[in-house]
Amino acid sequence: MQGKYLNVKNIAIFASGTGSNARKIVEHFKENPDFSVKLLVSNRADAPVLDMATENGIATLILNRKMFYESEEILTALQQHDIDLIALAGFLWLAPSYLVKAYEGRMVNIHPALLPAFGGKGMHGIHVHEAVKQAGVAQSGITIHFVNEQYDSGSILFQATCPLSPEDTAADIARKVLQLEHLHYAPVLQELLTNIPKLHS
Ligand code: GAR
Repeated sequence: MQGKYLNVKNIAIFASGTGSNARKIVEHFKENPDFSVKLLVSNRADAPVLDMATENGIATLILNRKMFYESEEILTALQQHDIDLIALAGFLWLAPSYLVKAYEGRMVNIHPALLPAFGGKGMHGIHVHEAVKQAGVAQSGITIHFVNEQYDSGSILFQATCPLSPEDTAADIARKVLQLEHLHYAPVLQELLTNIPKLHS
């Protein structure tokens, strides 16, 4: 029993927005004994996503900039929870290099457009969809990518597209893209976790 428990692969979600992707990930892994969402990290003490985590028995941690950039406290917390994979879901702070190194190949982000287009600093949420609308492109989509020390530039793991029509507003584009995120993020995380060993075995 204990041996089996030790093989469970654990996920930490970093989320600071509405948390709809975090919720989908939690729901996806809930009934799967091989994976466990163990920790939810947010840089906003009032983020509604924290309540969702608590309701699901998931530990929460609130980050401030000093803790994230001037200490390695977060690494201790990740180790305490035996975290194998970090999934950023609406978390906008740049990852510090000690974290990128410690979780190389084990930290992914979801971006609401088809990178490398419409990425970089300031490109998040509705700003992305407004830029897509402005550009008049025929499709948008999602990118799931590994996290490095720059915004939106780590190697791409997965993309999915959705067609746009000229009548689509930025809000319409946001809706289409969010649907794709909810459909794909958790299964892509599961596949990645299946293909990597536990971090500390
Ligand atoms: C998602 O659309 C995610 O792709 C985006 O924030 C939203 C969070 O929504 N992330 C970025 O823009 C990162 N550059 P959620 O809080 O409902 O999951």
